[in-house]
Amino acid sequence: MLRREALSVLAVEQLGAYSLLRVARGSLHPGVPGQFFMLAAPERVLPRPMSVCAAPPGELWFLIDAIGPGTRALCALGPDDTVQALGPLGNGFRLDVERPLLVGGGIGIAPLPYLSESLAQPPAVLGFRSARHAEAASLVPNAEVVIEPTLVTEALPAGYDVLACGPEPMLDAVGAFAPGAQLAWEAPMACGYGACYGCVVEVDGELRRLCVEGPVLVAA
Ligand SMILES: Cc1cc2nc3c(=O)[nH]c(=O)nc-3n(C[C@H](O)[C@H](O)[C@H](O)COP(=O)(O)OP(=O)(O)OC[C@H]3O[C@@H](n4cnc5c(N)ncnc54)[C@H](O)[C@@H]3O)c2cc1C
Ligand code: FES
Repeated sequence: MLRREALSVLAVEQLGAYSLLRVARGSLHPGVPGQFFMLAAPERVLPRPMSVCAAPPGELWFLIDAIGPGTRALCALGPDDTVQALGPLGNGFRLDVERPLLVGGGIGIAPLPYLSESLAQPPAVLGFRSARHAEAASLVPNAEVVIEPTLVTEALPAGYDVLACGPEPMLDAVGAFAPGAQLAWEAPMACGYGACYGCVVEVDGELRRLCVEGPVLVAA
């Protein structure tokens, strides 16, 4: 299922503070929600990990926060360009949950549209730092949206199987609230498939490569 391919860019659309990169899927499999692709813009040496945001027929969508040179290069692509893609990579979310609740913070909502579709649009709680960032919530059905200073953790109902993606402090708080939660973590990644050890994180006192053992890990 894992392949590398040059994909044609269809469009880069602005969605509030973020960009939605739409590419033709080619022969690539979208994988399961929470898995990611390593994407490289032309003439960029290192690719960047990006979660699959949605996989409509024939397409792959990526929601991108342009925070540095790699993400800015991806967001500057146009319809005549191609992007090198390798994936799907990593371990995604387990979908065998009874009462799913999706929780996202900021650009951490990126994998949630695909996850929502795969779980028949369960409730979601999404947190953003501004109304402009919150425009991306339109991609996730059935979402309650909170904006700072309100935090997502203040809006979490009890009794759900939580699946979350967002900044580290948010994931720590969500994991404390729901110890069985599935949490999608981030680390800088150079290869995405276990070769460079650039993404090593400490899990239960042991060093693990997040790209092969994650990015989704169970909180407990
Ligand atoms: C599995 C996975 C999935 C991801 N999915 C998405 C996504 O769907 N959309 C999206 O916009 N971003 C996503 N990211 C984060 C994205 O890959 C980084 O923002 C990107 O690599 C930054 O590259 P840059 O060249 O633009 O900026 P850099 O110049 O590389 O980084 C800018 C700043 O961000 C920090 N940084 C870079 N990468 C990370 C990281 N992974 N974790 C924490 N801090 C980092 C750097 O230390 C630096 O301070 C994902 C990351 C991972 C690991
Ligand atoms: S990114 Fe290279 S080992 Fe994980």
